[in-house]
Amino acid sequence: MNPQAMDAFWMPFTANRHFKANPRMLVSADGMYYQDDAGRSILDGCAGLWCVNAGHNRKPIVEAIQRQAATLDYAPPFQMGHPKAFEAAERLAEMAPAGLDKVFFVNSGSEAADTALKMAIAYHRVRGDAGRVKLVGRERGYHGVNFGGISVGGIAGNRKLFPVALPATDHIRSTHDLARNAFTRGEPEFGAEFADELEARITTLHDPSTIAAVIVEPMAGSTGVLIPPKGYLKRLREICDKYGILLIFDEVITGFGRLGADWAANKFDVLPDIITCAKGLSNGVVPMGALIVKPAIHDAFMAAAAERAIEFPHGYTYSAHPLACAASVATLDLYRDEGLFQRAANLAPRFEEKAHALRGTRHIKDIRNLGLVAGIELDSRPGAPGARGMDVFLKCWEKGVLVRFTGDIIAVSPPLIISEAEIDRLFATIGEAIHEAD
Ligand SMILES: Cc1ncc(COP(=O)(O)O)c(C=O)c1O
Repeated sequence: MNPQAMDAFWMPFTANRHFKANPRMLVSADGMYYQDDAGRSILDGCAGLWCVNAGHNRKPIVEAIQRQAATLDYAPPFQMGHPKAFEAAERLAEMAPAGLDKVFFVNSGSEAADTALKMAIAYHRVRGDAGRVKLVGRERGYHGVNFGGISVGGIAGNRKLFPVALPATDHIRSTHDLARNAFTRGEPEFGAEFADELEARITTLHDPSTIAAVIVEPMAGSTGVLIPPKGYLKRLREICDKYGILLIFDEVITGFGRLGADWAANKFDVLPDIITCAKGLSNGVVPMGALIVKPAIHDAFMAAAAERAIEFPHGYTYSAHPLACAASVATLDLYRDEGLFQRAANLAPRFEEKAHALRGTRHIKDIRNLGLVAGIELDSRPGAPGARGMDVFLKCWEKGVLVRFTGDIIAVSPPLIISEAEIDRLFATIGEAIHEAD
């Protein structure tokens, strides 16, 4: 591509100058593979961006969108409805963990997080508990890029340019503990007690009656695949229950089969009050996010407002967009018809074996995995944190494999349709790339 033709697009979360000097251009996709502009086939090792769980260019989804666009292209979501929105909500409620069945649509994971935080504060308020305004997140948490999300999120780099986060927030510590848990297969043994900090420090410091909600990713994905220690999430649930605090699970990555189960909530047998999801909800094909909520929360809003009043003054122009709803219904059908969550569970042992077979490769200081996700943490190059991670990413790209890197952690999260041979190739390539990296 002519370098000037790349001038206008200010790329998100991208090293723009480096990219424009060394473009990596994807031009088409099918199944497990992208094609680049040189006609190379690229194995998708990260489901696009953790979202294309059913693989690329799936006919039923493509056709559903085409039909929908030709039937009803757009409908205002405020004070108006359309059938696909109700169908999509029903379908999502049906597959949600038992006990969560009200669906509020948004357009992304970031919007889902901010909506959940607002909903939590407003819920307490409509019940007459207006003093509950504080929000608790976790270090190394990622809840998108909007102001609510970065306020409860715990990524220093995502906050330092924007030092105006919401004031009434605090954070529990991250569960990452390499000293005790390095090279664990599946859930780490050690660290359930990290949840106790919520009670010992946060509720004590703030007075629990001022805390509206705790939000965590059941498994932190974007900060490098941090798998929850055994018993940790149950402990968080118990403490939230004890103090009347809502528990929000951000399942933007963990929803829709990534961990070898439909939801992390089911995998870990812990029911939050609100799940936020996006990404796999529409297979990444049309932007879409959602909150799935306990009926008591929904009902509190209904009970508090006058009959013709808007109960929750919140929403977006594109909430429940017809194309997104059509994509989502077709996606959920595909997951069900092809048994993709079970497929992920069946493939998980081989995935684990191939990931951990890299142990001993130079630079690697941890390998961790669950379901169809793995994190490979590298020693940082002295004085240049993140440089080695980027090298490995670039070398994988040269070798025809797309992976993610966060600092010096390589994240692997392929579409759930991956074959055993492709799993083998994926990890073999990553191993070579790490071996070759400085
Ligand atoms: C857990 C989690 N929450 C929220 C988001 C933000 O989603 P989006 O980029 O769709 O706004 C992400 C994105 O990776 C995520 O992993």
